[in-house]
Amino acid sequence: MSRVLTGIQSTGRPHLGNILGAIIPAIELSKNKKNESLFFIADLHSFTTVRNPIDLQENTYATAAAWLAFGFDTKNNLFYKQSDVPQVCELTWYLNCFTPYPMLTNAHSFKDKSNNLSSVNSGLFTYPVLMAADILLYDSEIVPVGKDQLQHLEITRDIAGSFNHQFPNSFVLPQSKIDKKVMIVPGTDGQKMSKSYNNIIDVFLNDKLLRKQIMSIQTDSLSLESKKDANTCNVYKIYQLLSSEEDALTLYSKYAQGNFGYGHAKQELFELICSKFSKERERFNYLMDNKEIIDKELSLGAKKAKEIANKVLKRVRTNIGYV
Ligand code: ADP
Ligand code: TRP
Repeated sequence: MSRVLTGIQSTGRPHLGNILGAIIPAIELSKNKKNESLFFIADLHSFTTVRNPIDLQENTYATAAAWLAFGFDTKNNLFYKQSDVPQVCELTWYLNCFTPYPMLTNAHSFKDKSNNLSSVNSGLFTYPVLMAADILLYDSEIVPVGKDQLQHLEITRDIAGSFNHQFPNSFVLPQSKIDKKVMIVPGTDGQKMSKSYNNIIDVFLNDKLLRKQIMSIQTDSLSLESKKDANTCNVYKIYQLLSSEEDALTLYSKYAQGNFGYGHAKQELFELICSKFSKERERFNYLMDNKEIIDKELSLGAKKAKEIANKVLKRVRTNIGYV
C-alpha cells in the first residue's frame, strides 16, 4: 500500500485545464486499490495571495465541489482542508529551523516574484517549507505534481534528509510522480489555460455563460466557405482532448471540406462539453447549493487526517526532545 498525497491550491474556480490536467488523472490514480490517497485543499498556501474571506471561502468550496463532482472516493481515501489540520503549522516551524536560507532564495516560487521584494511576504518566501510539512506530516510516499512543483519536492527531500541526519527516522522521504503524458489544455486565446491569463473555460457555468466562453475562443478569420486546417485551430485542439478519436476525425474532415465555420465548430465543442460533463456539472451545482455536504466531507477528512498528523508529530517531537 502506497500513500499518495497531493495538494490543490484554492485560488479560483477550477477550469477545464485543472480538470483534464490534474483532477481526472489524480482521481484515476486514487482508484488503484494499492494506493491510499490524501488530497487536500491548500488554503493556507492560498492565503499568501488571497486576502478576501469571501473569495477564499468560495474558492475553497468550488475546488472541493469539483473534486467531489468528478467522483473522488472520500470513503476509502482522505479529503481535507489544510487549515483544518493546524498541526502542519507546528511542523513547518521545525522544518524552518532546518531550511538553509539560500535554498529558499533559489526557489522559483520566490525568484519569480523577487524583482518586487517589497510585495513579498515571509509566507510566500517560506511557501516551500509549508509544502514540505504538508507532505512529511503524513508519511507520504508518492506525490503527483506538475513539472513546476518538482523543485518543491526536491526541497522537501533535502529538508527531510538533513532533519533525519540529526534526528534519525523522523520522516519518510517522498518520491515525486510526474505524469508522462501531461496534457496542456490551451485557453481561449491559445496560451496555456490558466486562472492568471483570463482565458479559462469554466465547465461548471450555466449553459448560457459556458457557451459565451466557448464562443470567445480565438480563431483566424477564414471565411465560412474556406477549407480549414483543424490542427491550427484552438477550438479543435480543445475538442480532440475531450472527444473519442472517431469524433475528432469526423470534425477534422468537416474543417477540411469547407463550408464549415468556426461558429459551427464552437457549437460542437459546447455540445460535447455539455454531454461529457453533464453529471459532473449537475453534481457541482448541487454541492454548491448544499454546502453543508461539502463541510461534512471536509470535516470527516480532517478528523482522519489529524489522526495521522498527531502520530507523526508525536514521533518528531519525541526525537527533538520536547516530550
Ligand atoms: P492555474 O494556472 O489556473 O492557476 P494551478 O497552477 O492552480 O492552475 O494548477 C492546478 C493544477 O492544474 C496543476 O496540477 C496544474 O498542472 C494543472 N493545470 C493547470 N492549468 C493547466 C492546463 N492548462 N493544462 C493542464 N493542466 C493544467
Ligand atoms: N504548491 C502546489 C501547487 O501550487 C500545491 C501544494 C501545496 C502541494 N502543498 C502541496 C502539492 C503538497 C503537492 C504536495 O500546485
